[in-house]
Amino acid sequence: MPTSDPLGAFRLEGKTALITGPTRGIGLAIARLFAGAGAGLVLADIDAPACDALAATLGAISLPTDVSDAAALARLADQAEAQTGGIDILVCNAGIAGTPAPMHAMAESDRDTLYAVNLLHPLRLTGLIAPYMAARGRGSIVLLSSIAGLRGNAMLGHYGMTKAALAQLARNLAVEWGPSGVRANAIAPGLIETEWAGAILSSPDRAERRLGLTPLRRAGSPEEIAATALYLASDAGGFTTGQTIVVDGGTLISDGS
Ligand SMILES: NC(=O)c1ccc[n+]([C@@H]2O[C@H](COP(=O)([O-])OP(=O)(O)OC[C@H]3O[C@@H](n4cnc5c(N)ncnc54)[C@H](O)[C@@H]3O)[C@@H](O)[C@H]2O)c1
Repeated sequence: MPTSDPLGAFRLEGKTALITGPTRGIGLAIARLFAGAGAGLVLADIDAPACDALAATLGAISLPTDVSDAAALARLADQAEAQTGGIDILVCNAGIAGTPAPMHAMAESDRDTLYAVNLLHPLRLTGLIAPYMAARGRGSIVLLSSIAGLRGNAMLGHYGMTKAALAQLARNLAVEWGPSGVRANAIAPGLIETEWAGAILSSPDRAERRLGLTPLRRAGSPEEIAATALYLASDAGGFTTGQTIVVDGGTLISDGS
């Protein structure tokens, strides 16, 4: 690590990051922070106009993609590699909650879409990009898991299943690709102030009940998740691999008192 700049290990100059789902919420905060840290960016969102507009603002490459589509992911990986010097950092952030329902009651088509976006997209995209990273002898993969994957939930069971699987995907990628210099980690956020969390935070009763379970008594910000992603993506996290980092204001370690 450079001694002249104590924070140099957190900088991303000379690195290119591919981020899925970057046009709002956590993905947007990650894109902005990584750009500020000096990374070149490739942005892949289903919302093509928003993806193009953000890319223009950040000086990034826009490759609008529906990450639930396997063929589209293969095109994304090919183009991202071809249009850059290679992807050094892959952030699989795009995710959906699905329509809340007990597991047995979720419509099969909703369930298939949920698994395609939340689980198959990181599985496929890491499988496409990790070999390139390994050939270059370096790379960092960051997956957006959730504390919903670390405990049961009455109405988000399938969502939790996909997020639990991402923690295992991070562990397994770390084992498979570590000898080639590629790291893989996951972040498990608690409740974060995004559109996603709006349904809970906009209802005073639900917000009070939910935040009462969290020692810090507030939702997190997308920037607080982006900061963890920067640590994992950069050389600062160079010896961290296979981990799922919980960033939840203490929700999981509390008994709710
Ligand atoms: N917000 C929270 O409280 C919270 C908590 C835990 C985990 N997470 C996880 O963090 C990630 C980001 O969450 P968020 O709250 O920022 O979500 P969000 O809904 O605000 O943003 C999701 C982004 O993904 C994009 N996207 C959705 N479907 C897509 C598809 N098929 N193809 C390409 N892009 C697609 C959207 O356009 C958007 O830019 C998700 O994986 C989510 O599961 C969020």
